[in-house]
Amino acid sequence: MCEAVFPKDFTWGVATSAYQIEGAWNKYGKGESIWDRFSHTPGKVMNGETGDMACDHYRRYAEDVALMKKLGVKAYRFSVSWPRVLPKGKGVVNKAGLDFYKRLVDELLQAEIEPWICLHHWDLPQALQNEGGWEIPTSVQYFADYAELLAHELGDKIKRWIIFNEPRCIAWLGYLTGIHAPGIKDLQLAVKVSHYLMLAQGKAIQTLRDSDRNLNLGTVVDLNAMHPFSDSRKDEEATDRHDQLWNRWFVDPLFKGAYPPLAEEIGLKHTKDDMELIKQPLDFLGVNYYTRAIMSYDDSVPLTRAKGIQKKTPTTEMGWEIYPNGLREVLMRFRTEYGNPLLYVTENGAAFEDNVTRSGEVQDDDRIAYLRDHIASAYRALRDGVNLKGYFVWTLMDNFEWAEGYSKRFGLVHTDRRTMKRTPKKSFYWYKDTMANNGIAF
Ligand code: FCB
Repeated sequence: MCEAVFPKDFTWGVATSAYQIEGAWNKYGKGESIWDRFSHTPGKVMNGETGDMACDHYRRYAEDVALMKKLGVKAYRFSVSWPRVLPKGKGVVNKAGLDFYKRLVDELLQAEIEPWICLHHWDLPQALQNEGGWEIPTSVQYFADYAELLAHELGDKIKRWIIFNEPRCIAWLGYLTGIHAPGIKDLQLAVKVSHYLMLAQGKAIQTLRDSDRNLNLGTVVDLNAMHPFSDSRKDEEATDRHDQLWNRWFVDPLFKGAYPPLAEEIGLKHTKDDMELIKQPLDFLGVNYYTRAIMSYDDSVPLTRAKGIQKKTPTTEMGWEIYPNGLREVLMRFRTEYGNPLLYVTENGAAFEDNVTRSGEVQDDDRIAYLRDHIASAYRALRDGVNLKGYFVWTLMDNFEWAEGYSKRFGLVHTDRRTMKRTPKKSFYWYKDTMANNGIAF
């Protein structure tokens, strides 16, 4: 039996995002987002489900903060719905929307939970999408203006600021595979979007720094562990190319001021000034980790010539391989390849079909095992010199899982879809103990 005891100042938290939990999609002055439009389009989300109601968090936020207090987290990572605050994405401010986030933050502070705000977790205002959204450079300034507004309104209460959640998903899932909003499949457009996202991120960081507040600024990327299917040269090269697209594209420019060679190959256009704007100094980087990709050579796949291979190892309900060591691998890359920046694991967790007993208890031992093994892996990275300062479980409660609708449950808390009743699962109590002990035995 090993023990993983984390440093005293290690931050333990949970994460959520606006569209996945808030509901009230067209109420209290909120404008439409691209996820509202997408989920209302038949065939886009499993079972035609939407975030219209989600977890009704907009109305039940106080109950949810109380749950977090009971859980014993030090930090809560949430996102702001841009169209709730600026219904058209720019211009007229919706005061009711801003007030909601102020109430939420006050409630958190009162519960002694540190708010970690994320400016954008995918729900772009539809009005901006109609103008061209992330496909056009004007969105860079709109985003910076939105960031400035939030800093002005909430900067005195919130220290931790996250610019984006997973820009890779916005660009590659929204514009390449099309499984996320706005549901487009166009490689050239996706590449363009990726660059404007990076510019918007840089500009927002610059704007927040200039706002002259003592803000702690970071952004969140998601990385997969990456392994070739065999040790053939072709598989290794395919894996490297997939790694450039999937992992390095959104990380290299931040730390190295350059895109990986694949971006040059596809003809991504950028200037020296662009790259300088993108390479803003960060106070921390958030890393989301769920699984590994095993890649083999496939000539028919454009650009990367790499296809994923499903191993016969256990997976979560998402079909994602359970590969805890991958978290250590991904974190170690930041030590060896990116100058050992200050890191937080800003998301890690698993969807399983929960076993609800007759008396209503949720015996989610699979989730406990997943979390335990990943926390142990994070600990090994820390022991090996990674500058890791915290860990956030995805997610507080079962919620709207994007294209999967409500069919996938990631929560530490069970959400009854009909009554909205919240019931802490076994993993809730396990995570509570883990945080209270500041570590685990494994
Ligand atoms: C991440 C997203 C988050 C959640 C998890 C399962 O990619 O950031 O919103 O859906 O996956």
